[in-house]
Amino acid sequence: MEKSARANSRNISKAAKIIWSGGLVIFPTETVYGLGANALNPEAVVRLFEAKQRPKFDPIIIHIANIKSLKDLCKNVNETARKLIKNFWPGPLTIIFEKRQIVPDIVTSGLDTVGIRMPSHPVALELIKKSKCPIAAPSANKFGYITPTKAGDISCQLKKKVGIILNGGETPIGIESTVISVIDKPIILRSGGIPKEEIEKVVGKVEISRYKLKLASPGQMDRHYAPGTKMEFLTCKTKLPENKKIGLIAFEEPVKNKDKFQVIEILSQKGDLREAAHRLFAVLHKLDKMNLDKIYVEKVPEKGIGIAIMERLRKATNK
Ligand code: TXA
Ligand code: MG
Repeated sequence: MEKSARANSRNISKAAKIIWSGGLVIFPTETVYGLGANALNPEAVVRLFEAKQRPKFDPIIIHIANIKSLKDLCKNVNETARKLIKNFWPGPLTIIFEKRQIVPDIVTSGLDTVGIRMPSHPVALELIKKSKCPIAAPSANKFGYITPTKAGDISCQLKKKVGIILNGGETPIGIESTVISVIDKPIILRSGGIPKEEIEKVVGKVEISRYKLKLASPGQMDRHYAPGTKMEFLTCKTKLPENKKIGLIAFEEPVKNKDKFQVIEILSQKGDLREAAHRLFAVLHKLDKMNLDKIYVEKVPEKGIGIAIMERLRKATNK
């Protein structure tokens, strides 16, 4: 059976039935493709961890389609959280709350907190509504590997483990949601679709966590979002190897050494960071399939969504 299906209303209903009966579904969100299961069904969530080969200490985000569900899942929605919700939901912002007992421990890896977001992608919203339950969904990739932003980049291994793949084309933002905890002072645990500057306009000064926090988060582990091919930053000091198949991911049009690379992918001709974010994972997937000896990547300016891009590139190059 061909599992990949157009994300139309009929197929979304099919997918909802699969979720409701404890199965797994791959679906598009505005950030990246997610691998979804009924968040309130612990066995379904265990299946999800196994399919992804994800360590059990790494908690999963719950996706909701209306505010009422928020109150069912968590307590103490404070003023800061309310402001963030008003400004950024539905959208690419995951907020960490204190969890209620109804949320299974497997979802939160035993933490007292739960990450929740309301996606804005119409397919994701319709799927959650039709499933009649909140959906736990990590990105639809094997743990540690590159995140998919189009159905064609989802691995065959993962496809085998799900009931249906809803193909909704390319995901518009292209990198994951920003994860922010507001339980104490607001702190960004993972940079993502909503830049820090935009959040600060709404709630004032926000910190960015410097990795090694006690909380486990892929963004806080050293190697993540990584292609199988070795990857390294290209700097003015880089000595390019001779007689090797090498590729380059450039931010804008590269200026020198163009003939040394077998392939050059430009993230954004016009130097637009949003376009670069949108293309980043698809370009990584493409180059990773080319059997190159090494991929070189240029740094992008660390402002706006560029911070989230660089966070991912540092993990992918292990720097
Ligand atoms: O855009 C996204 O967030 C996508 C789409 C599918 O919604 N999902 C996603 O999930 O990126 P995942 O599992 O790949 O990343 C979730 C991140 C991880 O860094 C995880 O550690 C963190 O959220 N997280 C989830 N719950 C948490 C919690 N209670 N405390 C701290 N971090 C948490
Ligand atoms: Mg992920």
